[in-house]
Amino acid sequence: MNAIFNMKQILISLVLLGFAAPVLAVPNGDLLYQDMCEACHGKNGQGGVGVPLSLPDFQRDASDEFLIKSIRNGRPGRVMPAFPYLSDAQLAALIKTIRGFVSEPAKPVKVPKAIQGDLKRGAKLYQQHCAACHGARGEGGKGTGVTFSRPRDAAIIATSLSNAAFQDASTDQMLWQALAYGRKGTPMPSYLEQGLSEQQISDMVAFVRTLKKKHAKPEAGEAMAPFIVSEAEGSINDVLESVKEAVIAANFKLIRVQKFEQGMVKEGSESPDKVIVYFCNFALLNKALALDPRIGLFLPCRLTLVKEGDKVSVFAMNPEAISESFNNEELDRICQQMRATYEAILEEVTL
Ligand code: HEC
Ligand code: HEC
Repeated sequence: MNAIFNMKQILISLVLLGFAAPVLAVPNGDLLYQDMCEACHGKNGQGGVGVPLSLPDFQRDASDEFLIKSIRNGRPGRVMPAFPYLSDAQLAALIKTIRGFVSEPAKPVKVPKAIQGDLKRGAKLYQQHCAACHGARGEGGKGTGVTFSRPRDAAIIATSLSNAAFQDASTDQMLWQALAYGRKGTPMPSYLEQGLSEQQISDMVAFVRTLKKKHAKPEAGEAMAPFIVSEAEGSINDVLESVKEAVIAANFKLIRVQKFEQGMVKEGSESPDKVIVYFCNFALLNKALALDPRIGLFLPCRLTLVKEGDKVSVFAMNPEAISESFNNEELDRICQQMRATYEAILEEVTL
């Protein structure tokens, strides 16, 4: 991906600027933004799937360091990807582009030098004032802001406050001023205007700091396995029969069995050693679809059987790996349940 972006960027730069040699040394922030950010954050940072970057209050709160960390590390578990491969020069260029989205950032605001809050009071205030939007544990707004059922100009999603990357990127001061002064143009209100005291705001900052999720998501490099695999003895037909039985026993309806290569090779010449079994539980399907329509991309349920030597491997997509990026706790629960069901089916088959 990195290589592709860079090549494209270099090629475009070369064409635009008439092959001037120094172009390669100075990254073009506008092009980087177009390539990597615009689809989510909007042409001029006005927002979309991603939160707006062009609002004066956001630009006031977001230091360069916050932007750099947010871009480099992304928000694992949320929709915001990480861009760990960007060079310092590329990041600087991107930030220049982002700063250019606003003609004037909001005026600097007064923030107490020492932010010391009372956790207990903060916890209470948080539940009272913040949980409705940011979630009881700071997990952020429901969904991702991209559910297909919502228009693109839907209300701006409340960011995840418990996200470890957000916690690492932000300072107490940044939290304090976001809380105290709000973000005009978004649903995030100013709590000074709402009548809370400076001390109460410090109390909430102290509490927000306790929300940081520890190891909630796999660290980079140890992402959740995308497949669950199991090996069974016997011919492909034997294993296929026991898969069918196990699927039905687990309350699914068998939809169809087809050769893996169907439609990919000439009819009749599909390998008999690779088959897919499609099945569905309509109650579960409707429940999952109601929670997030994107789940439809992965349905109906399927198991893939592949004969290798005298064994048959049975593959299932890991539903938890799918739900991981959707940030929807109810969906997570269904997918955990699905994973357990898949594992039970595989165990049944390989017994
Ligand atoms: C696939 C969509 C997507 C892409 C691509 C993307 N972002 Fe984001 N970005 C998001 C979402 C969604 C959030 C909000 C995170 C949350 O929900 O907690 C976000 C958050 C951010 C934040 C933090 C904002 C805040 O208020 O905390 C910054 C800064 C940011 N993105 C910059 C960028 C830049 C620069 C790029 C390109 C290099 C980029 N993003 C690419 C979706 C995206
Ligand atoms: C009505 C919904 C709503 C309420 C209530 C609310 N927020 Fe927000 N909050 C948001 C939205 C939406 C954003 C994203 C704004 C943006 O894109 O700049 C946000 C942004 C923030 C940010 C900046 C995060 C970032 O990534 O830049 C912090 C910190 C924050 N909220 C904390 C709180 C706390 C603590 C409370 C309770 C005192 C609270 N919010 C109440 C909706 C809300």
